[in-house]
Amino acid sequence: MTVNRRAFLTYVAMGFNAVVAAALGVPIVRYVLSPIARAGDPGYDSWLSLGSLEQFPAGETRLATYRNPVQNSSDGETATIPCWVRHVDGDEFQVFAINCAHLGCPVRWFPQSELFMCPCHGGAYYSDGSRASGPPERGLFEYRYKIEGGKLLIKAGEIPTPGRLAAAAAAGKTPCA
Ligand code: FES
Repeated sequence: MTVNRRAFLTYVAMGFNAVVAAALGVPIVRYVLSPIARAGDPGYDSWLSLGSLEQFPAGETRLATYRNPVQNSSDGETATIPCWVRHVDGDEFQVFAINCAHLGCPVRWFPQSELFMCPCHGGAYYSDGSRASGPPERGLFEYRYKIEGGKLLIKAGEIPTPGRLAAAAAAGKTPCA
């Protein structure tokens, strides 16, 4: 069988288009199917310990870290995630994501002024995580928490984001503690 030049070039173009379509389509399909893949990963439902309650004196805000329960073997130290723990009183805590609600820079707690400050664009938050000033449009995101066996646990696999908040609001749930 002989293949003329026009047919040959058509086959080459079709093959090239198929490769490009696969390269573009695989990430899209993975994204679309990610909720299904997520459902099978127990890491997303993990409650992780931030340590014993004695590490968080009442009335103080302390930095804590945990290991991301959804990680790859190559993640190394990037899977160690910091967060701010505010012990209000008794069993009442607030656990804040360290990331600014504006563009995600790590915020720092200044006990002298009782403010969380963002180094990137000057965002500031009050001690309860609510917005004080600057570009952030909302307060700091909070983790869900619970106390078990004298330890403070957080729902670490689910980092709250605006998208999650909107989805939770639509479903009539409160994602933050
Ligand atoms: S990232 Fe914090 S103010 Fe912009």
